[in-house]
Amino acid sequence: MMKNETNIKKYRRLAPIYDLFFGAILSLGREKAFNFLDFHPGNSVLLVGVGTGEDLKYIPDPCSITGIDISDPMLDKAKRKSAGKRVKLINMNAEKLSFPNNTFDIIVLNLILSVAENPQKVMSEAQRVLKPDGRILVFDKFIHSGAKVSGLRKLINSITSSIGTDINRCFEDTLQGLPVNKIRDESLMFGGMYRAILLENVSDFPNC
Ligand SMILES: C[S@@+](CC[C@H](N)C(=O)[O-])C[C@H]1O[C@@H](n2cnc3c(N)ncnc32)[C@H](O)[C@@H]1O
Repeated sequence: MMKNETNIKKYRRLAPIYDLFFGAILSLGREKAFNFLDFHPGNSVLLVGVGTGEDLKYIPDPCSITGIDISDPMLDKAKRKSAGKRVKLINMNAEKLSFPNNTFDIIVLNLILSVAENPQKVMSEAQRVLKPDGRILVFDKFIHSGAKVSGLRKLINSITSSIGTDINRCFEDTLQGLPVNKIRDESLMFGGMYRAILLENVSDFPNC
């Protein structure tokens, strides 16, 4: 079970080793996922659960970047990678963003929906602060919609969850009727477990 309070403890432990293990293994998939996005000068980009800042190098300099996370040790690592870029790093809960509606052009939800206590809230908050024509990129591991989870997978999940991630979440469950369209969804790594998904905001009106 993933809880925000325990996630803070888990990611305090993971911060020193995160890049060594997960950074290197996932970099190919991450790079392919970022190819889904077109950045334009002046775009405002939100990295939700920015972690150690592994995404920062894929965002061109003329963009203004905001990264939020609940773990200070992870944010400290991201700070070291943000030199020379327009990056604001803030300790904030992704389930309750303190940004006004319609703030960002692009929102990146990489490896956060499988970690946060309430991924539905993370998604609805992302949609709320996304501009009407904005895009959301997701790179993460999910089970396929309607797939039966085996006993072995449940057992493995109890181990990965105790370290810092849930491997049995279904992406489609996070959408809950939000006004977003899935415009790309590709399997990238580990037999399709890791996917890159691109959403566009299709709300007729700005959130108010
Ligand atoms: C697996 S790491 C992913 C980091 C980064 N997005 C990446 O792609 O490498 C998950 C991150 O989400 C953060 N996190 C977990 N729950 C959160 C929440 N409710 N609000 C903000 N950050 C959260 C953790 O502290 C951790 O830094």
